[in-house]
Amino acid sequence: MTNAELSKRDLAHIWHPCSQMSDYDEIIPIKQAYGAVLRDFDGKEYIDCVSSWWVNILGHSNERIAKAIANQADKLAQVILAGFSHEAIIKLSERLCASLGAPFNKCFYGDNGSAAVEIALKMSYHKNKLQGLEKPLFLNLKNSYHGETIGALSVGDVEIYKLSYGGILINAISTKVPMSFKDNEVSEDEALSDLASILKDYGHKISAFIAEPLIQCAGNMNMPSPSFYKKACEMVKNARIDVIFDEIAVGFGRTGTMWAFNQIGFVPDFICISKGITGGFMPFSVVLTNDSIYNEFLGDFSRAFLHSHSYTGNALAAAGANAVLDIFEDENIIEKNRSLSAFILAEFASLKNHKKVHNFRQCGMVLAFDLINVPKNSVKNMRFEALKRGLVLRPLENCVYFMPPYVISHEQISYAARQIKQMIDEL
Ligand SMILES: Cc1ncc(COP(=O)(O)O)c(C=O)c1O
Repeated sequence: MTNAELSKRDLAHIWHPCSQMSDYDEIIPIKQAYGAVLRDFDGKEYIDCVSSWWVNILGHSNERIAKAIANQADKLAQVILAGFSHEAIIKLSERLCASLGAPFNKCFYGDNGSAAVEIALKMSYHKNKLQGLEKPLFLNLKNSYHGETIGALSVGDVEIYKLSYGGILINAISTKVPMSFKDNEVSEDEALSDLASILKDYGHKISAFIAEPLIQCAGNMNMPSPSFYKKACEMVKNARIDVIFDEIAVGFGRTGTMWAFNQIGFVPDFICISKGITGGFMPFSVVLTNDSIYNEFLGDFSRAFLHSHSYTGNALAAAGANAVLDIFEDENIIEKNRSLSAFILAEFASLKNHKKVHNFRQCGMVLAFDLINVPKNSVKNMRFEALKRGLVLRPLENCVYFMPPYVISHEQISYAARQIKQMIDEL
């Protein structure tokens, strides 16, 4: 099989995500992947600078995760989780609660990031209702992204994804967020005063405030300060509004600590986790919350949280997630990432003062910058030039980012940094 043969068969039947299909003359079928590298059917290799949509944190074909899933498959792949259970999900729940720490003590499972966001939104709204409060609004940060299902899309603020669906979204209000993008700067004070006025006018109607802690990834890798999040969350809590942290993209060490909220010094009511949870092997997600929220749902059947997904608590995914936690424990990933992110910074440092680069920034294992004074569409086209040079890059508008699997080698980082600099020089 060649790329061309498979590409033709693919395009005959597959409607690709997040794509204008008429842009595609061909797609790239991947035959095999290992570590930070993808290999296509013609034998060409690409460094996965985006961790395959930010899920693959511990390397493609990671042996320990693959083995754990295969062993689990020999025993039990899936069992209904309503009233039944299995060892892998019990062990995982204990470990996640311990890793996040008190007061997180209850896990509700889903099978993708958007589902986790839906679960947290519904739980917060429902909990308020059980307490006799009708609060039909949600609050989010401008420039945020929380997924594509109707509820998750409603609480996001990346316009391009929402444009066509205005008529069917649920009610959400967006408050300003600090940004250092050229021509679009918002200071921390300005953002907090916007929040204060929203809380004054609408606070009593808002069930929950949802935010991506430390990095708004799909929002062009905007990185507000931990202190902004802390102040904003405290204001929100004072208005008796629940706080949901969406750690779907930033959890599992991406920001330099196991959980991004560890750097903020604020403990939310709900945390949504997905993507890295199985190292990119299985679709899976979980919402963690505390006993006090959980207890509100106890009593008559009519008080129960009746949300469910068929694959909730999937045993293969749970086994994969346990293997991911084993690797974090045994292989000192957070510590290793500290020196890896310093190496990444050093390799990209020459871009910091480049005349086409603005807002050079890094948080843990994410490095990003915006390109300015470059021809229209040239950043979008970098994606195709990068492929020719053996790199998978997906710039977000004018933002170029580097967010590789944590197993990427020094040589691969240096190669990627060199190629990216050359591409920018040539724009
Ligand atoms: C912060 C955040 N929340 C939610 C989602 C949605 O997750 P999924 O694509 O698995 O539905 C994403 C996906 O990129 C995300 O980055």
